[in-house]
Amino acid sequence: MNITVIGAGYVGLITASGLAETGHRVICVDDDQGKIDTLNAGGMPFYEPGLGDLVDRNRAAKRLEFISRIEDAVAQCEVIFICVGTPPLEDGEADLSSVELVARRISACARGYHLVIEKSTVPVQTGRRLQKHFSIYGDNSQSHYDVASNPEFLREGSGVEDFFHPDRIVIGVDSKKAAGLLEEVYRPVLEQSFVCPIHDSCGKRPHVPLVVTDINSAELIKHASNSFLAMKISFINMISDLCEAVGADAGKVAQAIGMDSRIGSSFLRPGIGFGGSCFPKDLQAFVRVGQSAGCDFTLLREVERINQRRVDLFVDKIKHELWVLRGKRIGVWGLAFKPRTDDVRSAPALAIIRRLLAEGAVVRAYDPQAMGKAKAQLPGVEYCADAYVVAEGADAVLALTEWEEFLSLDFEKVRTMMARPLIFDGRNMFSRIDMAEHGIEYVDVGSGAQLHNHTPTL
Ligand code: UDX
Repeated sequence: MNITVIGAGYVGLITASGLAETGHRVICVDDDQGKIDTLNAGGMPFYEPGLGDLVDRNRAAKRLEFISRIEDAVAQCEVIFICVGTPPLEDGEADLSSVELVARRISACARGYHLVIEKSTVPVQTGRRLQKHFSIYGDNSQSHYDVASNPEFLREGSGVEDFFHPDRIVIGVDSKKAAGLLEEVYRPVLEQSFVCPIHDSCGKRPHVPLVVTDINSAELIKHASNSFLAMKISFINMISDLCEAVGADAGKVAQAIGMDSRIGSSFLRPGIGFGGSCFPKDLQAFVRVGQSAGCDFTLLREVERINQRRVDLFVDKIKHELWVLRGKRIGVWGLAFKPRTDDVRSAPALAIIRRLLAEGAVVRAYDPQAMGKAKAQLPGVEYCADAYVVAEGADAVLALTEWEEFLSLDFEKVRTMMARPLIFDGRNMFSRIDMAEHGIEYVDVGSGAQLHNHTPTL
């Protein structure tokens, strides 16, 4: 099938190259000429494991091309995915101006039938607005449309894997034709009938469930999914505060409650909070959706509030140990909002560092992938070649992103290099016992066994 994907960000690029890999001919469009030139020159606009190879292979096979003019793509394709950004406005509502602009450009040039699929994360009833838009601005004598919703659930850092092996595919449609076309688009993924580009021996996998519903429900499924995951994280962070206060172990609590299959063990890792380009903005947008529909979304406001307080609580812990921060040398391991990505959008690490710099601390930092993007947002930090340079002469080191490589550090060496062997673990990635064996003072999130705290008797 000939498919157009508009927007070459995470969702767009992974969708475009994934669909090409499963045999479709895909034109990926982005009005950022610089990004298109980078892609056509074989470069990647961001770091995502496995994506570069996928793009190269499909471009070489002429199944994938990158252009900047929507009109040239629309003329060749019936199926159009809208994957543009929907960043938050001042008040947290989703900014849909890029979605509307794309709709305008499509309706100005489209001829014949087109299925326009919203894949960007959008508030409920956006599809309705698109339908209205096409009925007003589309030249109904020459063109007719179906609108559909097909939310994306990929995670940064494992986006390629999530495209080929999703838990489910959700489509929101208003017509059998639209449903049929989307099923055709995704057939190889639904039937897992493709040669897996990620796993050498992928083996026969069960078919992927296809959830077919109406457009409004499909749009809500995305916001509700992300808000629920964010709620799990804020829940365990709330519990971890209690564990610290009463002398219990949040890691054990999470492990045991997660064994209940109704709860599930994922997304119960306490820490410095969730960040990234999705959870914070989707939560804000969903709270506004609830509000404008006259519903009480206090629960999600609390999820936001608990998450925002993670940074304060973590900095308080550091001050509790280091007393005056002015002039203290603090090392930071990890800047990205999570491992396996160079993305620092709403990264808790950056918020923590800003607080430390504001208190006059001297900060050295290292991240395997995200230093370039962090530098743009955080001058005043010394970016280092590796984790050891960061530890050299430090009064404390903060582990803020759980990159695999930090687990295999030589902690004997780290201890001898630091002015005070003290590690604050904001992602509970290290073991308390290992740290003690290396003679390193260790403060994690959620265990009552903190260094110098007085557990109150309730
Ligand atoms: C998320 C959703 O997982 C994905 O389905 C959706 O399509 C986009 O948003 P992503 O933003 O890539 O994906 O990150 P995710 O892996 O979900 O992590 C989000 C944040 O939560 C990260 O900052 C991570 O560190 C934090 N997190 C995650 C926790 O603090 N604890 C956990 O147990 C899990």
